[in-house]
Formats: sequence, C-alpha cells, structure tokens
Amino acid sequence: MAKLKVGVLISGRGSNMASLVRAAWEEDYPAEIACVVSNAADAPGVKIARDAGIATAVIPHGDYPDRETFERAVTAELDKHGVRLVALAGFMRVLSPWFPQYWQGRILNIHPSLLPAFKGLDAQRKAIDAGARVSGCTVHFVVPEIDGGPIVAQAAVRVLAGDTADTLANRILQQEHRLYPLVVRWFAEGRLRQKDGRVEVTGVPPGATLLFSEEP
Ligand code: GAR
Repeated sequence: MAKLKVGVLISGRGSNMASLVRAAWEEDYPAEIACVVSNAADAPGVKIARDAGIATAVIPHGDYPDRETFERAVTAELDKHGVRLVALAGFMRVLSPWFPQYWQGRILNIHPSLLPAFKGLDAQRKAIDAGARVSGCTVHFVVPEIDGGPIVAQAAVRVLAGDTADTLANRILQQEHRLYPLVVRWFAEGRLRQKDGRVEVTGVPPGATLLFSEEP
C-alpha cells in the first residue's frame, strides 16, 4: 500500500524529525518523510535530513511580510511533495489561524509537557519550578490556540530530586522519540478519530496512548 507522505517542520536540532526518519526506514512503517522544512537556515536538523536523503527546504520567516504569507509559502512546499500529514517537531514559530485551519485534522505537534500543564516555551523549566513530580510529553492535533489541540497520546516521566531543566528535558526527549513515531503510525493507519474535541484511537490495546518512561 502507498505510504502516507509526511512533511516535518523544524527550527533547530531536529532530533524528533530524525526519530521519524529512522522509524520510516522500517519496511513495515506506513509513512514516509516526504520533506523537511525549516524556518531557520542554520538549523542543525536541516543537515541531518539532507544527509539522510530527505528533500529539505529552508523558508526563512523573515523574508515574508506576515505570518500567513510565510505559512502559505510553507504550504506550497508541502503540497509540492504531496504531503498529507504535517508533523511539527520543534518548530518554534507561532502560527496564524490560517495554517492550522488549512491543515485541520492533518497536523500534529509534540510538546515537552503533559498538556494542558506547562504550555508555551520552557515547559521543562516550568515543571521543575512548579515542583511537579511528573512531567512528560504530549502529541496533539494542532489548532489555532497554542498547545491547545486535542491530545492523541502522552508519555510520563518522573521529575527527580536534583533535576535541572536540561536533565529533565533529556529524559523527556527520549520519550518524545518513542511517542511521535507511534502516533504518526496510528495516523497513517487511519486509527485517529476526533469526536467532541477528543481523540479516539481505534484498534490499539487499552492504555496504549499513555507511555511510562519506567517501562520499556
Ligand atoms: C522538543 O523537546 C520538542 O518537544 C520541543 O522542542 C524540542 C525540539 O527538539 N517543542 C516545543 O517546545 C514546542 N512548543 P528537536 O529539534 O531535537 O526535535
């Protein structure tokens, strides 16, 4: 069967993008990474994608007069590659309402907290500052409200005494690399349904939408 074409949007390191690329190398994975788009020319992830043989494009947001015009240029690039699912992976641009509306139901994001806690930037630092005992990461559908869309799946990570934002971020990142490929697989397999602002995942074992870092 034809694989689902995924476009990944990045701004920096690109480790989540790389985890999707690695997953898609598996023969039985139902999605392929059709292109990687960065709004930052110096994003290390661009080189990683290029070295992996993925089509890449750098579209600097500063070249455009406003958010929507930039997003239309990104969309033209994604459409050029036949993209059917957009995966935001460390894409650090606030979106205008236009982009999530155009890609409605076909755009996912990964965020380094258990949403709806700790939205926005520095989510790992916010978890530590709040004294949270557990944090993690969330994959959710993207809507105009920042970090506000319907949750698909989460991974929980214990906050340890003595954790810094960096040590916690690193442990959360390991779980991000498990969670995102799993959710993209489910999307590609047609398992995700949105109903009343919530996501149903069909045909997976009970509890499959919550991972724990302490379990393999
Ligand atoms: C990841 O931790 C991702 O969850 C986070 O940025 C990092 C990107 O790392 N995204 C956000 O904070 C979005 N609000 P990566 O470039 O190595 O994938």
